Amino acid sequence: MRIESPREFERLGAVRIYGLQKVYELDAGPDSATQEEEDSVVRRVSSEAINSIERQMAIVVPVRNERLKLIEGVLVGIPHDCLVIVVSNSPREPVDKFYLEQEAIKNYCRFTRKQVVVVHQKDPGIAAAFAAAGYTEILDDKDLVRNGKAEGMIMGTILAKLMGRKYVGFVDSDNYFPGAVNEYVKEYAAGFHINQSDYSMVRISWHSKPKVVENSLYFAKWGRSSRHSNMFLNRLVGHHTGFETEIVKTGNAGEHALTVELAMGIDYATGYAVETFHYVHLLEKYGAILGEGDDASAPASDMHHKVKISQIESRNPHLHESKGDEHVEDMIAASLSTIYHSRLCPESLREEIEQDLQRRHYLKEGDQLAPMRVYKSLDRMDFNVFGDKASAVIKVSGQTHTTVAPGATASAPAAASTSSSSA
Ligand code: GDD
Ligand code: MG
Repeated sequence: MRIESPREFERLGAVRIYGLQKVYELDAGPDSATQEEEDSVVRRVSSEAINSIERQMAIVVPVRNERLKLIEGVLVGIPHDCLVIVVSNSPREPVDKFYLEQEAIKNYCRFTRKQVVVVHQKDPGIAAAFAAAGYTEILDDKDLVRNGKAEGMIMGTILAKLMGRKYVGFVDSDNYFPGAVNEYVKEYAAGFHINQSDYSMVRISWHSKPKVVENSLYFAKWGRSSRHSNMFLNRLVGHHTGFETEIVKTGNAGEHALTVELAMGIDYATGYAVETFHYVHLLEKYGAILGEGDDASAPASDMHHKVKISQIESRNPHLHESKGDEHVEDMIAASLSTIYHSRLCPESLREEIEQDLQRRHYLKEGDQLAPMRVYKSLDRMDFNVFGDKASAVIKVSGQTHTTVAPGATASAPAAASTSSSSA
C-alpha cells in the first residue's frame, strides 16, 4: 500500500490525532520490488509488512439479523491470515437465525479453511465467564451480555486477546462490497505498521457513500451522523488547544482497529455511541486536560504511553444496508451525549449540542440529553479466570476438536463456535 504521511496532527497530552491520510496505491508491491528512497510525503508499506500485521490481527464482525449473503461477502473480503470472530446477536426465535448463520459460515470455511470463531452474544457460558472474572456490568437482568453493538465489540475484543492476537479490528457485517472490507483491513495493517506503538488506533473515513439521487448515482462524502460527531469533537479539541481545528474526520468510524493493549485499557460507551466516545475517553484519560470544575488534584493523565490515532481515507465506495432515519437520529444523539456528558465539555459546547438536538426536534426544550452507559476498561477483570471459563466454552469444531487455551493462537484451519450452539 502507498499511503500519504499525515500532514498535521493535534497533540493533547499523550494523545496524537493525525490528520486524514490518502491512499495512493492499494498494493504497492512486495519488499523485493525496486528499492525506493524513503519519502517524507508518501510511505510505501510492502505486502509482506501488511501480511505480518494481518497474521497478528483478529477481525471482529458484529452481526444482528443481517442477510446471510452480506455476512458471507464480508468474510470473503477479510484477508486469510486474520482470525475472524463473528459476534452475533441475531434472534434464535421464532426462526433460529444464529443457526443459519453458523451453517453458512461453516460451509464457507470448508472452501477457504479460514479460522473463524462464531459466538452468540447471549451465550450463557461467556456471560458466566464475565461474571466469574468480575466484569458484571456488561450483564443484564437475565445475567446475559446486554444488547448493543459495543457490547458485541467488547466480547469480540476479549476473545481476540484470549486467542493471542495483538491487534483487533472491526468491520460491520452489512457491507455490500467484499473489496471494501479487504481494503479496510489492509489499511488497519498499514496504519499499525507505520505507527509502531502499543497504544495505537486506526480509523477509516470512507471516500464516498453511493446514493441514488434523482435517478443517478451520487457519491456523498459525509453521512449525517459523522458530520455531527466530527463537528462537535473538533469544537471540543479546539476548546482545549485554543485553536479551531478540523482534524477529526472519523467521529463515527464503525470501521476501526486498535492494538489489543489499548483496547483492554479504555472504557466503552454502549451501543452506537462507542466510536465517538473513543475520542472523548482518550482525551479524558490520556489528554492531560483539566475539565471545568476539576482541581489540580484530579487524577493525573496517563502520560507513559504515546496514544496515536491515525485516520485513513479508503478508496472503495462504502455501501451498506439502509436502516432508516430514526436509527440515524438515535445514533447522532447517542454520539453527542458522550461529548455532552464528558467532564471536558465546556458549558458553551453543551448549549450548542442542546440547541442542535432541539432544532432537529430530537430534544424538547428543558429536557436533558440522557447519558450513555459506560463500561469500565477490560483490564479490571481477572483475565485468567475469564480465560479458563471461556476456553471451556469455545471449541474449534472443525477437523481437530481442540479446546482453545488462554493466550494461545488458534492455528487450526476451521470454523469454531460456542459449545452451547447447535452447529
Ligand atoms: N453483535 C451485535 N450486537 N452486532 C450488532 C448489534 C448488536 O446488538 N447491533 C447492530 N449490530 C451490527 C450490525 O449487524 C452491523 O453489522 C453493525 O453492527 C453496524 O450496525 P448498523 O445498524 O448497520 O449501523 P449503521 O450502519 O447505522 O452504523 C454504522 O456506521 C456508523 C458510522 O456511519 C455503525 O458501525 C456505527 O457504529 C457507526 O458509527
Ligand atoms: Mg450499517
